[in-house]
Amino acid sequence: MPLNSEVLQWKYRNFLINKNSKFNKNEILKILSSDDIDEAYKTILNWDNYSPTPLISLNKLNDKLKLNKIFYKDESKRFHLKSFKALGGAYAVEKIIKGNDKKVISTATAGNHGRSVAWGSQKNNLECKIFISEFVSESRAQVMRSFGADVIRVKGNYEDSLNECIKQSKKNNWQIVQDVAWEDYKLVPKLTMAGYSVMMKEVSEQITNEKISHIILQAGVGGMAAAMVAGIARYLDHIPQIIVVEPDSAACVLESIKKGKIEKISIEKESIMGGMSCGEVSLVPWEILKNSVHFCVTVPDDYISKTVKYLANKEFSEEKIIGGECSTPGIASLIGLSNDHETRKKISLNENSNVLLFGCEGDADEELYQKLLAG
Ligand SMILES: Cc1ncc(COP(=O)(O)O)c(C=O)c1O
Repeated sequence: MPLNSEVLQWKYRNFLINKNSKFNKNEILKILSSDDIDEAYKTILNWDNYSPTPLISLNKLNDKLKLNKIFYKDESKRFHLKSFKALGGAYAVEKIIKGNDKKVISTATAGNHGRSVAWGSQKNNLECKIFISEFVSESRAQVMRSFGADVIRVKGNYEDSLNECIKQSKKNNWQIVQDVAWEDYKLVPKLTMAGYSVMMKEVSEQITNEKISHIILQAGVGGMAAAMVAGIARYLDHIPQIIVVEPDSAACVLESIKKGKIEKISIEKESIMGGMSCGEVSLVPWEILKNSVHFCVTVPDDYISKTVKYLANKEFSEEKIIGGECSTPGIASLIGLSNDHETRKKISLNENSNVLLFGCEGDADEELYQKLLAG
């Protein structure tokens, strides 16, 4: 079926207006400070082979959706790690060991965070222990091993792998480098977020002639989304409409925003978007997201494979894009929101809109990517 008749049928699942939204730059930058953000940029800028990831115009899609512009930040090109997570874990490793002698680094991961921590540990000549659940593919585990990490598989889900990581790290005096915050563990997650905020610095230098009107942010535990919000506070003059997108089956940010407090949800079925299949928003991101997000939206897994194919086959843009599973919900939700007349009006999406999307990962899980491409 040609693109125009097919995507115009796509629908989002849930949509929520945040009644508590009142974007306040100063409040946001009290949680992740300008100094933290600037230090991350200054450091990462000097890493070997650093260069900003491309910002690609999805010009064919914006014609279909009758929007002005759609920008796609292509994180498949982030170093050789194939996701934005390269900016977070590796940066946190570098900062946290400063002055420390040779500590063993540990973490739990759905894949990309662990890859970054393994890379950061390798760069700093540190031993690294990575805990993964039974849902993390062997091909992801192999990549982490290729960065020198010892990968430990734990029975159960992500939470089980995190609990095991904490238990063994306490026992062995390992330094946990986690992207999730809890009471008494906020510094490292803040460092990972500071690392992610480099994306917004790059965007602020890549989009100079237009104002971004809408930005759609994928969320797992909310670290990436909150880091981008802090980046908006730090780098942009104009505040766009901020939309958080989650898998239907793991809408912990939407549920928390609905209740006005952190709401843990139980995941009945793991989404294919593994990095976003999280049941509870992390503490530090929540403090930022609760008053800054304007809208929440959820999408089913149904459009993942099609979106991966459309990106690869240049249906959305002039150039081929390698977008993995977590790169798809920004696009799918934008299409769903655009297709719904009432919602389109509610969020002021129209022919003047300039939308920013994040292609969070490339074929980071090569096996799954090939399956989605063929599916
Ligand atoms: C690959 C990947 N992992 C994880 C996440 C979620 O990040 P966070 O847990 O910081 O919200 C995303 C995007 O949201 C992603 O694309």
